Amino acid sequence: MRTRLVVGLLMTGVALVFARCGEGEASADPRLAPAQPNPSSPLAESMRVLDAELLEFRGCLIEGESLDDARFSEYRFTELEPTDSTMLVDGFQALSMAFERHVAEFNAAPDAEKYAAVVGGCEACHMRSCPGPLERIAKRHLPDGQ
Ligand code: HEC
Repeated sequence: MRTRLVVGLLMTGVALVFARCGEGEASADPRLAPAQPNPSSPLAESMRVLDAELLEFRGCLIEGESLDDARFSEYRFTELEPTDSTMLVDGFQALSMAFERHVAEFNAAPDAEKYAAVVGGCEACHMRSCPGPLERIAKRHLPDGQ
């Protein structure tokens, strides 16, 4: 009886982690209630801030507006707590450092090319650690020719 309860709880935990990581574009729809009633981990929170910044800067690039004041928030992902430690895959630190470098280069002199490198940095890590948001990140690329 006890064991079944424990197994049940474990499975719920696993399902929650996957639901979070696998969160698709649908929850970005403002008409829907938030899909995640649970408090976010600091790592997940940082990702949402960065995603919003991508959206904003992409809009500027497409509209031909100035990026002079555009700066990504600078995070140390390795110092932020994840929802679950299994997300910190082998290579997470190297991927974080590569990403931080792309952000620093963009922040020093923002342009379309460096924006694209930041999006590439998001994808590089997500392919390894957490594929759920890849579909959403794919929409942050600039349209062809920009
Ligand atoms: C070095 C690895 C790494 C990089 C780089 C990275 N991510 Fe993440 N991302 C993760 C991990 C791990 C999680 C799961 C975090 C958690 O649930 O605690 C995550 C979660 C997310 C989520 C889901 C957040 C939520 O609400 O649960 C989104 C969206 C996301 N990332 C988008 C991005 C975007 C956009 C970028 C680039 C600006 C990016 N990520 C860069 C590893 C990374």
